[in-house]
Amino acid sequence: MKFRRNIIITGGAGFIGSHVVRLFVNKYPEYRIINVDKLTYAGNLANLKDVELAENYSFEKADICDYAQMSQLMSDYSVDGIIHLAAESHVDRSIKDPFAFAYTNIIGTLTLLQAAKLYWESTEEKYEGKLFYHISTDEVFGALEMDGTMFTEETKYNPHSPYSASKASSDHFVRAFHDTYGMPTILTNCSNNYGPYQFPEKLIPLFIHNICQRKPLPVYGKGENVRDWLYVVDHARAIDVIFHKGKVADSYNIGGFNEWKNIDLIKVMIKTVDKLLGNPDGYSLDLITYVTDRAGHDLRYAIDSSKLKNELGWEPSLQFEEGIEKTVRWYLENQDWLDNITSGEYEKYYEEMYKNR
Ligand code: NAD
Ligand code: TYD
Repeated sequence: MKFRRNIIITGGAGFIGSHVVRLFVNKYPEYRIINVDKLTYAGNLANLKDVELAENYSFEKADICDYAQMSQLMSDYSVDGIIHLAAESHVDRSIKDPFAFAYTNIIGTLTLLQAAKLYWESTEEKYEGKLFYHISTDEVFGALEMDGTMFTEETKYNPHSPYSASKASSDHFVRAFHDTYGMPTILTNCSNNYGPYQFPEKLIPLFIHNICQRKPLPVYGKGENVRDWLYVVDHARAIDVIFHKGKVADSYNIGGFNEWKNIDLIKVMIKTVDKLLGNPDGYSLDLITYVTDRAGHDLRYAIDSSKLKNELGWEPSLQFEEGIEKTVRWYLENQDWLDNITSGEYEKYYEEMYKNR
């Protein structure tokens, strides 16, 4: 079968990637979607059970740092679009093992860029009709004070953690490939995502899991850091709009205009989980446990996504209270998914990570 487009989505077995794959496979039967994922601890094909048999979906277990593999995939599938999400994504892990982040996030992105460059330059149409879309984070901009300011597309990069430093570096390489070789690139910086299929080392799924298990909820520092939360399906919708209508060489901020102080968010989660489990109001508040702060913990992130709204008409579709209830319900109804992940290897990692706190 001949497809109108052949698009590689890297990191499609991860949290956000699986939502992007699902959206594209279902919405665009005329596109072939090739999910390229190494299946690290964070990659899980169970996230894509509902689309794995679709005719326009293929999975390739491959490492974005492997140049030969990436080149082969470009030509085997005549790839004309890349949506690049594969990364090491957890700040706490980056503090323990910065090299893994430099390797995957910087060398992996560079490898993919170079493989795309050489393949696209070898085709008759060269860069015509091609696009390399890189998914980045608001964390590259650094930290804001509690003063109402927000990150815009013009904010200077000022990363603090090894994670954000590696993402910033990969963003620079993407821009360099446009400026130096004329590769059509687009880049987006998104705020914190939440929703189904998020690996339970991140705040929201970890805390839902721990509340259900009556385990302590490790709040870093005083719980006063602020994050701007976006429902993951809204991020996938934004990626769809930008992939199709975004201006080449441009960047867009994606965010929910939805800032929460960690401790306030945690209390909303506790209330929601207790309600859905039939516990009395306030039942799980005693699980809150203040622990040593994360090293270099960024105080506040807040994204101004008005450019995306004004130029491309995207807006978040869900209010936070609705999104968090939907999310909690999903984790409660998908205990098997959570149990599989929280057994074995991950449990060992988790114990190691928290034993000194
Ligand atoms: P995730 O950790 O859930 O998933 C990452 C995926 O990448 C996994 O499936 C993993 O197997 C795969 N992967 C890792 N190394 C690989 C390699 N060398 N080769 C091939 N595949 C590899 O991450 P996520 O939270 O879904 O984030 C996806 C992207 O979005 C990342 O680039 C991240 O920086 C960015 N982002 C995340 C958030 C967030 O809140 N989660 C916010 C903004 C931006
Ligand atoms: P996280 O989900 O790791 O995302 P990020 O660090 O990329 O923003 O953390 C969100 C916030 O929650 C962040 O301020 C750190 C805090 N946090 C805790 O207080 N306890 C935890 O166990 C975790 C994982 C995070």
